Amino acid sequence: MNRRDLMKGVATSVAAAAFLPAVAARAQTIAKPAIVMANASARTKIDLSGEWHVSIDPYRAGLVDAVGDPSKPRHWRYADVNVQEAEVKNPGTFFEQDMRRSGTVTLPGSWNAQKPEWRYYDGLMWYQRVLEAKPEAGRRAFLYFEASNYTTHVYLNGKKLGVHVGGFTPFAFEVTDVLRDGENRVTLGVDSEHDANAVPPVITDWDIYGGVTRPIRFLTTPLTYIDDAFVRLGRDGIIRASVALNGASAAGQKVVLTIKGQKALAATTDANGKAELSVKAPKSLKLWTPETPTLHEVRIEAAGDVFTDRIGFRTVEVKGEDILLNGKPIFLRGISHHEEEIGTNPARVITEDAARKLLTEIKTGLNGNYVRLSHYPHSEVTVRLCDEMGLLVWSEIPVYWAVNFGNPDTLKIAQTMLTENILRDRNRASVIIWSIANETPQTEVRNQFLRTLAQTARDLDETRLVSAALLVERKIVDGHIDMHIDDPLIPALDIMSVNTYNGWYGDDKLEALPATVWRADVKRPLILSEFGADSKAGFHDPQLKRKYSEEYQADYYRNTLAMADKIPYLRGLSPWILKDFQAPRRQHPIYQQGWNRKGVISETGERKLAFNVLSDFYKSKMN
Ligand code: GCU
Repeated sequence: MNRRDLMKGVATSVAAAAFLPAVAARAQTIAKPAIVMANASARTKIDLSGEWHVSIDPYRAGLVDAVGDPSKPRHWRYADVNVQEAEVKNPGTFFEQDMRRSGTVTLPGSWNAQKPEWRYYDGLMWYQRVLEAKPEAGRRAFLYFEASNYTTHVYLNGKKLGVHVGGFTPFAFEVTDVLRDGENRVTLGVDSEHDANAVPPVITDWDIYGGVTRPIRFLTTPLTYIDDAFVRLGRDGIIRASVALNGASAAGQKVVLTIKGQKALAATTDANGKAELSVKAPKSLKLWTPETPTLHEVRIEAAGDVFTDRIGFRTVEVKGEDILLNGKPIFLRGISHHEEEIGTNPARVITEDAARKLLTEIKTGLNGNYVRLSHYPHSEVTVRLCDEMGLLVWSEIPVYWAVNFGNPDTLKIAQTMLTENILRDRNRASVIIWSIANETPQTEVRNQFLRTLAQTARDLDETRLVSAALLVERKIVDGHIDMHIDDPLIPALDIMSVNTYNGWYGDDKLEALPATVWRADVKRPLILSEFGADSKAGFHDPQLKRKYSEEYQADYYRNTLAMADKIPYLRGLSPWILKDFQAPRRQHPIYQQGWNRKGVISETGERKLAFNVLSDFYKSKMN
């Protein structure tokens, strides 16, 4: 989207400036979630993927009555009632739903892909299944959700456990005291609606993807367990571990940390159940790089619990206009990537195979060493694969386009989402950048909002870099395109990143692109975080080279890369985008059909001409 379109959004943001003091007043970091459950998948007792009963609820009757009063019991999908039995026992009663006799769908998977009539459904959907588990003496029990889009109400045996807001980060509820020795039923009310105060706001350029899109896990722990562990290599050569226990005996516990092949470290938790451990990294420590993605077996024992993970050690920093990985300058050869599997009807179900197929196209197909996981936190399985395959990661929260920057509650949602994102992934060596925004209007209320987010990221993680995808006003100066990077947010960022679409949006001729002059007010490394052009795979037009042809897209890449290669402080590229993706705003009946076609591969994985242009360019950048 070009800046002119977006700046129209400024009006709403400026109007919100009246909230400025409120935003500033609320600019403290937020509390961590009560349950982090680091590396939860390692604790899985039951994976609740599979068949779930499903019941649509477009007017939210299960939550609120027609006139705004509390909903009536006959609509309560979560009630601990066998409807069929109740109807027989008391003919005078009646219900207007029955989860146990409703149809079923397979979770995880967005409902938009599961039935044609649900293709663009944007509302509340109910799910229910039986959980075969019972209370265990000396153990605590939890339900852990990897992601559910957008607001998720969770019930067990008719009791509301809580609600989570945000479609892309994990959350958990303790069920120790609700679990019974018999049939347990989990009921979820998932509402995809995200309004003007949400993150992202109403309009995005990707699909609704409502529902439970990632696995749900039932897991148990000792009465006191290791809830959070952040193990990292500092720029000072010190390995640090921050460990947090959760439980009645969290204080005064001995914590033992072992990195395979190294001497064990020990410490004792403080009154809050926290312990810090540190040691100078041995010279022999094999560092993580994209070429040698070394992961070390890390084991932490405390209070009878054991936490294990495979963690890479590396440092990343900015020095002048350079990005340094393990002290050496690096160029990020990447591409942007939406979370969507290859296929003609994706349900946003990212299995390890689905992720590996896409990431291999970047690593091997494009000669890449980097991926921008846009515009929201992707599945943990994807980030773990980047650790394993050697792809550096830009991780992003969907503070996207016309966010209500003046609303303190919106700030809290964004901070919570960023916190959940960082707590889940801060042991992933591949992640080097936390991104806090995409294409947001340059107003003071937005600047304050984003400066707060940048601080939130730094408070949680001193080892990574902070960026945001910015917009730059395109001007014509002395007959050439002039791009003046002047966003007032940049001093709060480690890396300045710019989305630019000259040659696609607007009427610039492709041959004018290489002569573009880029100017920056602040000295920072630059990433071109987006540039791209649509093409319909198989539409060839070698003569006219019309837009939407593969030839136009390939020429666009050749000219834009020639332009990029001349920017002396350019340190990375993540063109828009690896694969064509579902986008309801894109409805050209011949070329789009509800897909954004800027992929260098089609939705079925077919490589387009532009793929080789980018692959060859990156091959030339490999030292
Ligand atoms: C925008 C935006 C993307 C969008 C792309 C496009 O800059 O960041 O989410 O899909 O450009 O217009 O295709």
